[in-house]
Amino acid sequence: MPSSSRAKPAAPVSTVILGTGSFAPAGVLTNAELSQRMDTSDEWIVTRTGIRERRIAGPGESTSDMAVQAAAAALADAKLAPAEIDLLIVATITPDLTMPATACMVQAKLGLPTTAACFDVNAACSGFLYALDTACAMIGSGRYRHALVIGVEKLSTIVDWTDRTTCVLFGDGAGAVVVGPSSKPDVGLLGTRLGALGENVELLYIPGGGSAAPATPESLKAGAHTIKMKGKEVFKLAVRVMEESARDILEQHGLRADQIDCVVPHQANLRIIEAIAQYLELPLDRFFINVGRYGNTSAASIPLALDEARRAGRIKNGDLTLLVAFGAGLTYGSALIRW
Ligand code: ACO
Repeated sequence: MPSSSRAKPAAPVSTVILGTGSFAPAGVLTNAELSQRMDTSDEWIVTRTGIRERRIAGPGESTSDMAVQAAAAALADAKLAPAEIDLLIVATITPDLTMPATACMVQAKLGLPTTAACFDVNAACSGFLYALDTACAMIGSGRYRHALVIGVEKLSTIVDWTDRTTCVLFGDGAGAVVVGPSSKPDVGLLGTRLGALGENVELLYIPGGGSAAPATPESLKAGAHTIKMKGKEVFKLAVRVMEESARDILEQHGLRADQIDCVVPHQANLRIIEAIAQYLELPLDRFFINVGRYGNTSAASIPLALDEARRAGRIKNGDLTLLVAFGAGLTYGSALIRW
């Protein structure tokens, strides 16, 4: 049994993001390449989704490998050593193994202390916001000091590459943040709103492979272990729920939408982001958008975009950022951050 060396600081006033990092595998799959494999076209994909290309991890490149790369970059940005992390949460729907948690593999690969709490969160595309909120609450309790929160996916392993209605949408990647305590109540994670519409599970799910329908040769043959989605219904719900969640958190904090400097939305489809911008009456340039280069990377989408937005100078000290997500479950959430 490792001896616990966990610090017991007084409960901090708030939690701040101390660093961000991201990783995208080198393999690029363009719309033109997809068009050679199936009945689709660059024009169809770009017009309906805004996606031009996506990254695909190699066979030897696991979810935990990508998570480690993003986490190492976030630790370097935060100027913290792995030894200073006492909480690791990995948001993913594509764990290396069904059991144990990918967080344990990331812990070992990064050399985090054996006294660090490590677990996974499964909330699909809202997973990073669920994990971030959990980490901030745990740090806010005063019982943990520095958390690594990672959103990572190897969705290329769970899409049906013969189904043109879904496979063109998804990609692989990772993003990470380091979270720590702050004595300034008006800086850091100001608040979150999380929720779920569980009656809609079958709009977006993987029917086979779980305990309800364990893998059989027949289920494998039927492709039951890949993503099934009712695209039109998901689209409509995504727009409505993300808009409502954004309005809800703004109202909770007495803010108007035009006071947000940068919105970092879940990157599923450019048309979904455009619709939200329209409903919130915000210009599209207030949104950070990279869906064209990565497609939908589920739990990795927001932290990957957040890191790119910071590195591109789109988020500066003092800025107010709104994160808003929607995913399978159907889960949703929003978060407000003052930098
Ligand atoms: N290439 C060419 N044609 C296609 C393709 C394709 N890749 N995919 C579908 N089509 C065809 C359809 O077969 C259909 O043809 P038909 O009219 O002859 O039947 C036609 O294009 C229109 O299809 P629709 O499904 O009506 O297209 P739509 O405009 O709804 O766009 C899309 C589809 C892009 C999937 C859209 O519904 C969408 O983005 N939905 C939300 C998806 C999403 O965000 N999912 C993830 C959210 S949560 C998470 O991230 C896990």
